[in-house]
Amino acid sequence: MLVAEFGPAFLGTGGSRIATYHFNSDNGAPVCEQVMNAILDCNRGTETAYGADQFTATLVQAYSNFFECQTFVFPVPTGTAGNGLALGAVTPSYGTIFCHEGAHIVTTEAGAPEFYSGGGRMTLLPGEHRKISLATLEDGLQRHGIGNVHHMAVSALSLTQATEAGVVYELDEIRALSAIAHEAGMKVHLDGARLANALVHLDATPAEITWKAGVDILTFGTTKNGTMNAEAVITFDPAIAQVLSFMHKRAGHLYSKMRYISVQLLSYLEDDLWRRNALQANRNAERIANALRQRSDVELVHPVHINEVFAVLPPRLVRALGEEGIHVRPWSFQHKGAGQRMVMSYCDSIEQIQRFEQVCREPINSEISPPGSPPMIERKAVRGP
Ligand SMILES: Cc1ncc(COP(=O)(O)O)c(C=O)c1O
Repeated sequence: MLVAEFGPAFLGTGGSRIATYHFNSDNGAPVCEQVMNAILDCNRGTETAYGADQFTATLVQAYSNFFECQTFVFPVPTGTAGNGLALGAVTPSYGTIFCHEGAHIVTTEAGAPEFYSGGGRMTLLPGEHRKISLATLEDGLQRHGIGNVHHMAVSALSLTQATEAGVVYELDEIRALSAIAHEAGMKVHLDGARLANALVHLDATPAEITWKAGVDILTFGTTKNGTMNAEAVITFDPAIAQVLSFMHKRAGHLYSKMRYISVQLLSYLEDDLWRRNALQANRNAERIANALRQRSDVELVHPVHINEVFAVLPPRLVRALGEEGIHVRPWSFQHKGAGQRMVMSYCDSIEQIQRFEQVCREPINSEISPPGSPPMIERKAVRGP
């Protein structure tokens, strides 16, 4: 089911009941029906434990087909575990990971990559829309120095696709960044928490966006786009896979009942579920962004490539949305201060999107001039970059 009911909560006083909708995070979306049915279907009979079951065997083949090459898959339940393991597998305790200063692995994973690498560090790079440019990477490497035993060894470049600002790296950007990283002796990692959304935005194949562009290892997220708790650490390199197989077990991620995670990852690829869900989520975001673009008092802070909209909304609009039961998440922007983040998902209801559009279209109380007052002066529209 593509556009599912979001199960709105009903709030209200004095008999008025308003359905409330949250654009806080795609993590709040329910498990989609196809995945839930697959979990129920696999819940029959006994199976071999610890990943030697038929679902996990099928999974390895399915991901190899998906990526058009031999692929090694390590299921985990969170993106943090995936990123930590993936980066730990390519970073020695004396190594450093080059990444954006606003990357999820830096800001929101409680030091998991440092933990899994047994002491590795991060070298932080700046960049607009949380993207690393070629010049910034080259400059960072030059300043760090390569092969100097007084510094940490450069071990990995981690890119987030799409970035934490909802912006996508183009294929030629990944290729060029990977070439620089490989030249410096680094492995290239993708944090693909929203990889499906990036894939549909680019209209690229999974192979093109990863190994064909130089990516050695990635965390392929599925939880935000329809599964319950399934992310896949994927590598195309047998040597990295060998290291990972031990780390995966040692970190406590070789589940005895692996079939329940594997079947989610399998179901995600079946009938292009990943694509259908990501397309829907991206389209929902485009509609929300378009509604905001119609208003002269709203600034879109980042380009809208995937299912995330970052904007500065006037307080009266936030209030008007709230009165209609629509909640947006307060967000703090590095150079702009306070604003909002809105994340759409595959299951936002049509009603939810339409209600948002309606609020944006209608004049808000404080915008209506009292009789006899001079006409309001329209502020210059500031459109997103
Ligand atoms: C860019 C990015 N990476 C990774 C993750 C995965 O994090 P978690 O450990 O919460 O599953 C998230 C989740 O919000 C994310 O936005």
